[in-house]
Amino acid sequence: MKILSGTETSKEIKEELKKEVLNLKSMNIEPTLAVILVGDDPASAVYVRNKQRTCTELGFQSIERKMPEDTKQEDLLAVVKELNDDPAVNGILCQVPLPPQCNEQEVIQAILPEKDVDCFHPYNYGLLAAGIPKFMPCTPFGVLQILKRYGYETKGKNVVIIGRSNIVGRPLSILMSLKEWNATVTVCHSQTAKLAEVCRSADILISAIGIPNFVQAHYVKKGAVVIDVGINRVHDPSHPKGSRLVGDVDFEAIKDLAEAATPVPGGVGPMTIAMLMYNTINAARFQEGLEKFEL
Ligand SMILES: NC(=O)c1ccc[n+]([C@@H]2O[C@H](COP(=O)([O-])OP(=O)(O)OC[C@H]3O[C@@H](n4cnc5c(N)ncnc54)[C@H](OP(=O)(O)O)[C@@H]3O)[C@@H](O)[C@H]2O)c1
Repeated sequence: MKILSGTETSKEIKEELKKEVLNLKSMNIEPTLAVILVGDDPASAVYVRNKQRTCTELGFQSIERKMPEDTKQEDLLAVVKELNDDPAVNGILCQVPLPPQCNEQEVIQAILPEKDVDCFHPYNYGLLAAGIPKFMPCTPFGVLQILKRYGYETKGKNVVIIGRSNIVGRPLSILMSLKEWNATVTVCHSQTAKLAEVCRSADILISAIGIPNFVQAHYVKKGAVVIDVGINRVHDPSHPKGSRLVGDVDFEAIKDLAEAATPVPGGVGPMTIAMLMYNTINAARFQEGLEKFEL
């Protein structure tokens, strides 16, 4: 089975993005990403640190707004407004999950659509559904980039996606069904009947559910390409940290069946951050009246 490395693919993409940053800088445009982090969730802090590190690596400016766990919704919205109004800020993202007193949807909708580099705002979602996406949903576009760069065509293929969330499954199903990708897409969820049988019809099987080792051999057709979006932390006393990350797919169980698969970690995860940087570059370009930079 071939390993589809998101670590390697994201490195290749980041090199392309670095060149575009230099091009923008030669026009006195410096892409700037603002990240809002509310509270002390350790996983969120790691994600934010990785995003900032990637900004530095690519030559972006990054701004962090750290707010306490007991932040009120109105104070969070005030920070969003301040960043919306700052012409030096091209992209804004608010790390989720938010503490319970904050309303995530209201925050997403408060971010100006032209600065919504996560592509979560209903306006950008609507453009995607209309087949004219401006920003690309980060994790779904990362999946498409892995497939493209390893030479796996989606045109005419049966694609089965397990999971219908607003950030992975559903936007990925929309993207893959667009004319540019021409896949025949089936979206599955917790109420899907005969799930394993449906999955076995897939030329490309994508799992985004968040259950460790859920996808077993009887879900996979011989020769299928398997993309594992899941990131699940499981208890492992043999590991120095006492836990480790695994995907939704039982990698060992499918290795003699699948033609290729993404590992966890090192698969879709690093692609998501690279696509966030890609969207930030495009936010900077659009705000200067320039055309979309294509990957
Ligand atoms: N690689 C990355 O960068 C990245 C980015 C985002 C998320 N993730 C990971 O991807 C996973 C999914 O994230 P998410 O935000 O999309 O999750 P989510 O919002 O919890 O959605 C999970 C989806 O899986 C479906 N599901 C749950 N149990 C199922 C079952 N037994 N059979 C079939 N479908 C089932 C749910 O169905 P219902 O709709 O019927 O409830 C739902 O549609 C998580 O592990 C997350 O950490 C990774």
